[in-house]
Amino acid sequence: MERIFGRPIVTQEQMRARIRELGKQITTDYAGMDCVLVGVLKGAYAFYADLARAIRIPIRVDFLMVTSEGSQTKSSGKVKTVKMVTELTEDIKGKDVLLVEDIVDSGLTAQYLVKTLAKKKPRSIKVCTLLSKPERRVINVTIDYVGFKIPNKYVVGYGLDYQQKYRNLPYLAVLDMEGDQE
Ligand code: IMP
Ligand code: MG
Repeated sequence: MERIFGRPIVTQEQMRARIRELGKQITTDYAGMDCVLVGVLKGAYAFYADLARAIRIPIRVDFLMVTSEGSQTKSSGKVKTVKMVTELTEDIKGKDVLLVEDIVDSGLTAQYLVKTLAKKKPRSIKVCTLLSKPERRVINVTIDYVGFKIPNKYVVGYGLDYQQKYRNLPYLAVLDMEGDQE
């Protein structure tokens, strides 16, 4: 893996430092609140584990999994459908939900999850994502915490996959699909 993905675009050190900052911010913002940290599997698992331990207030942990079908392409206007495939185990009614995502790309997953979870009447719901690709956004969704804004490139590692592999890469790398020299 090291050989294939040579140069990281976000190193382990940069990840660690940024996640520490996010944890501090969330600790301050959620002081005295009843926070349920909801991780979106599988992609968010690595970020989630680090973020949760950087938050210094007692929080509840929970997870859900989503699937998406179809693909949205620039020209066809086809839009994918996002579905929740596993449910939360915590009752989030009256609680402060912080949704933890690996990456916000089109924004469809985040928008779907915020809408769906809002029906369970949490007191508040916010979104925290490790990565954001602002250029790819097709809908306007509020993201409250962003680790890194990245350019429009396919990335792997730190939880993110290419065909279910490379999630365990300890840093973030651009997947070299065209074999360009960069
Ligand atoms: P959205 O619904 O278009 O915002 O897409 C979110 C999901 O697309 C993420 O949770 C990822 O599973 C996937 N995704 C988007 N961009 C990338 C990428 O660069 N690498 C790996 N997965 C990605
Ligand atoms: Mg994926």
